[in-house]
Amino acid sequence: MKIAIIGAGYVGLVTALCFSDMGHNVVCVDTDIKKVKSLKEGKTPIYEKRLDELLEKHLNKNFKVTSDLSDAMAEEPEAIFIAVGTPSDSEGRLDLSYVKKAAIDIAKYLDFYSVIVMKSTVLPGSTESLVPIIEKESKRKLGSGFGLAMNPEFLKEGTAVEDFMKPDRIVIGYYDEKSRKVLEEIYTSITAPKIFTDIKTAEMIKYASNVFLAARVSLINEIGNICKQLGIDVYEVAEAVGLDKRIGPYFLRAGVGFGGSCFPKDIMALINKSKEIGENADIMEAIVKVNDRQPLKILQLALQKFPNLHKKRITVLGLAFKADTDDIRESRAVPLIEALLSMGADVTVYDPLAMQNFKKQYNYKIKYAEDLHDALKSADICFIMTDWAEFKKAKDYENVYIFDGRNLFRRLHNYEGICW
Ligand code: UGA
Repeated sequence: MKIAIIGAGYVGLVTALCFSDMGHNVVCVDTDIKKVKSLKEGKTPIYEKRLDELLEKHLNKNFKVTSDLSDAMAEEPEAIFIAVGTPSDSEGRLDLSYVKKAAIDIAKYLDFYSVIVMKSTVLPGSTESLVPIIEKESKRKLGSGFGLAMNPEFLKEGTAVEDFMKPDRIVIGYYDEKSRKVLEEIYTSITAPKIFTDIKTAEMIKYASNVFLAARVSLINEIGNICKQLGIDVYEVAEAVGLDKRIGPYFLRAGVGFGGSCFPKDIMALINKSKEIGENADIMEAIVKVNDRQPLKILQLALQKFPNLHKKRITVLGLAFKADTDDIRESRAVPLIEALLSMGADVTVYDPLAMQNFKKQYNYKIKYAEDLHDALKSADICFIMTDWAEFKKAKDYENVYIFDGRNLFRRLHNYEGICW
């Protein structure tokens, strides 16, 4: 099928290249000229496993990229996916301006029937709120002139391609049978339960999924904090609890909390929405509160052992919000580094992928180490904030006291330190 994807960000690019790999003809559009240039040269602007390989395989074959929407629309795609960013404003409310702009731009060139599909995470009601804008700009009517659908994405950074190709489920919110058929055809080659529902429900499924996962993390963290005080290993507790089929083993890793571009933002957006409609969001507010506290909990553990961190040589390992990504959005290392600097500590950091991004975004007085060995060679204390497999190279930690916020060292009793 002929598909256009608006936005070559994380979701847009992974979707575009996975659709290409499924045999569809895909054009990806992004207004960022630098990004488009880099993709045309075969370089992916983000780090994600298998993405380079897919780009190399499909570029200039059934995957094209352009900064000119009219080029993409000239191909008369049967479906146009909106996968642009949905940032939050300072109060945590969802900013739909990029989504609206994409809808207006698409509508300008819409002189053929196509299904407009929302891929970005948007609050219930948002996709349908675009209809008057599209109708006005295109002078076409929803149903006869264009179709509408909402198809949320559940991929995780680091395993995005695999999550896309082998999803637990595919959710499709659709306006009418015609729209449904197009989406059904796009996903024919993927074997997974397919949930067909209305558009608002599809939008809500995405938020509810993320809130549930984030809730598990905050709940196990709260239990973990109690365990720590009582001398109990929360990982042993979680393992046994997770064997209950009603609970399951996933997202029960206690530690320094969740970061990333999705959980923190999505929960805040839903909290704001619930306030707007006069509903309580007590549990969601508690999820955020626990998560905000969590990176500083590890510091409290350190202060119990080393009450004065002034001039102490401290290494923070892990700047990415999780392993296998260079994404530093809502990194758990940030509140820790700020607290350490305010205490006068001498801070060195290391991350296998995220240091460039971190340097660009933050202007902290910290040292950036060359590698793990360099990061640890003269450190007194080390904090592990991301679960990079590389950090498990235990020989480098011989003279360092470890505060392990990601539970990498739980079973290594020969090293001195405190694990979560
Ligand atoms: C999350 C969801 O898992 C995806 O299903 C969803 O599609 C995506 O958000 C999104 O909305 O786009 P992602 O943010 O990439 O994916 O990463 P996760 O693997 O979910 O991890 C989020 C954070 O939670 C990380 O900081 C991770 O370290 C933390 N986490 C996760 C824990 O602290 N404990 C756990 O047990 C699991």
